[in-house]
Amino acid sequence: MSEREHTPAAELTAKQAAGELERLAGEIAHHDALYHGEDRPEISDAEYDALRRRNLEIEQAFPELVRDDSPSRRVGFAALDKFEKVTHSLPMLSLDNAFEDDDVREFVARVRRFLKLGEDAPLRLTAEPKIDGLSLSLRYEAGRLVTAATRGDGSVGENVTANALTITDIPAVLAGNEVPDVVEVRGEVYMTHAAFAKLNERMTQEGREPYVNPRNTAAGSLRQLDSAITARRPLKFFAYAWGQMSALPRETQSGMVEQLAVWGFVTNPQMATFDDVEAAIAHYHSIEEGRADLDHDIDGVVYKVDDLALQERLGFVSRSPRWAVAHKFAAEKAWTVLKDIEIQVGRTGALTPVARLQPVTVGGVVVTNATLHNEDYIAAIGNDGEPIRDGKDLRIGDTVQIQRAGDVIPQILDVDLSKRPADARVFEFPTRCPACGSEAVREVNDKTGREDSVRRCTGGLICPAQAVESIRHFVSRGAFDIDGLGDKQVEAFYHDGLIANAADIFTLRDRDEKASQKLHEREGWGEVSAAKLFDAIDARRDIELGRFIYGLGIRHVGERTGLDLARHFGAAEAFAEAMGRLAQSDEEAREDLLAVDGIGETVADALARFFAQPRNAQVFEALLAQVKPTPPQQAATDSPVAGKTVVFTGSLEKMTRDEAKAMAERLGAKVSGSVSAKTDLVVAGPGAGSKLKKAAELGVETLDEDGWFELIGR
Ligand code: IVH
Repeated sequence: MSEREHTPAAELTAKQAAGELERLAGEIAHHDALYHGEDRPEISDAEYDALRRRNLEIEQAFPELVRDDSPSRRVGFAALDKFEKVTHSLPMLSLDNAFEDDDVREFVARVRRFLKLGEDAPLRLTAEPKIDGLSLSLRYEAGRLVTAATRGDGSVGENVTANALTITDIPAVLAGNEVPDVVEVRGEVYMTHAAFAKLNERMTQEGREPYVNPRNTAAGSLRQLDSAITARRPLKFFAYAWGQMSALPRETQSGMVEQLAVWGFVTNPQMATFDDVEAAIAHYHSIEEGRADLDHDIDGVVYKVDDLALQERLGFVSRSPRWAVAHKFAAEKAWTVLKDIEIQVGRTGALTPVARLQPVTVGGVVVTNATLHNEDYIAAIGNDGEPIRDGKDLRIGDTVQIQRAGDVIPQILDVDLSKRPADARVFEFPTRCPACGSEAVREVNDKTGREDSVRRCTGGLICPAQAVESIRHFVSRGAFDIDGLGDKQVEAFYHDGLIANAADIFTLRDRDEKASQKLHEREGWGEVSAAKLFDAIDARRDIELGRFIYGLGIRHVGERTGLDLARHFGAAEAFAEAMGRLAQSDEEAREDLLAVDGIGETVADALARFFAQPRNAQVFEALLAQVKPTPPQQAATDSPVAGKTVVFTGSLEKMTRDEAKAMAERLGAKVSGSVSAKTDLVVAGPGAGSKLKKAAELGVETLDEDGWFELIGR
């Protein structure tokens, strides 16, 4: 998934929220269909979970916008059309999750509170493995299997009776002589690791794509229209619950499960009862420890209140029983082969190595990629010839151990050197950006003298991986501040090839005049808005040199540094000339630069690298052909805030704190971090607290962000 950043749900407008909910409903339905309908997931569980979480977050902020087809209203997936539909006589529910031991203690405390049971009152729990398969409901009438149905959306499933009958763990006729008229047995269909491996061996021999994991394979096998195929896939079944029953033969969960065994079902040998929550949690840990030795996947432990009368009193909350909880396992580890290493270039130019793995199931999810963090993580010996602490010495072809925990990107934990093949290949970390070919460097930290672990592309202005971000920065408020060119427009213009770099912005009007499709014909644009944009662009052909420099987006060159450089060089030509020499490693140019107040080695290195990239230098030249940077204003003396002490507090929405500070300083104000009797003005955004209070106490003038812009005439 892209490293998409979200606006906090509470800050969305209703229109945005509705739009996003619509998109999420579609996206989640698509992934549900792939996962459940075709057993071929396209995204990881973590990515899927992130979509659902975002959906929930927005729904909580805008409860009135919850859609009828909201993913949160569906449990699991909708039944496929090809099978006959079966309406469950009692819905098939889901379970609430617990992740920490404390969540389980809280579950028990909740149960006690609900039942008004004292702390010492007995409360027996069952604990059993949570099988990572798919649930099935089996309806027996007069002891004979009449319908087997998948869960579907919890209310309506698919009729897979013919297929269920091929599973030897599922009796066609119940054993014993005291069988109620109607018995619905529920449990989990799964595939053993051995069966899965054998099946995949067959697939590979036949030259077909191997399956990804036992769970999805079991699901796919059960939903074969041809039950002869299901029969060739050895599926198993654990019975652990029931639906409609014309009579309940026992009074406890554990008793019922014993009864299921009497009727001929396989029940889980690791199910046990506990009178004490700590003992139940200990059972969880022992099941977790033995997990790797099991021949099937489990993803947690389910605790249930044993007494059925208490279960009845506890009832349900929405789709989950109050009397049960699933305690999920944290992270699972697995061994697989590192097939290749690829480099991804992030929006800020960081080169991140990504491991391409032989697909492997970890905690029920297929993992094909893992992050390798940075260069040092892969290597054993650093560029300085010294061994790298925590360096893993990974080679392509190595057998590696990976871990997946919750929502985080899978990690590589370890490498098994004994399995290293003779032709294992050392990965040469590129020193050029794979996206644009510019040099990629590791900076040396000024203070520590150590090399940064991240290698970065230096092609800021021309690197496609960074382009949108760099253009956004260029037009942002502290830089060129072009009205009408917001994030969305930049993104769209870039993708449609209208602007490839910052200099292209200034040729938009000319090109538009000759273009067959005009800007005003684009969706969302009209004659007025297009003309306004061109005017806004033209208005910035005169720009303060400091803003111009800042707009280039050179690493470590913020607004303040832009201004320092502008004050020092005074004119664009002088700056350009000095940068040209700096890029040629001219010592004098460097020393001159280091003598500037506020400029250290880090900035000097960053400038040198930036201008050493011929294509950055080209865009810089192209920009200078379009705009005329003006000498920096000395701190203004005629602005309404000149000489005043200003404090910014709360969250600012239209500018960053740094931008605010630079702007105020440009206008001759002094910016302070705390409110005192000397403060002249407090600019407060939402969430401002003690500083605002203090200002009120001291009678200091306060303004909101809009008030500030009004005051300074922007
Ligand atoms: S009890 C009313 N016990 O987990 C809840 N479920 O997240 C009845 N599952 O749909 C379910 N092992 O597919 C229960 N030992 C177990 C289970 C188990 C796996 C699955 C089942 C259920 C899902 C709930």
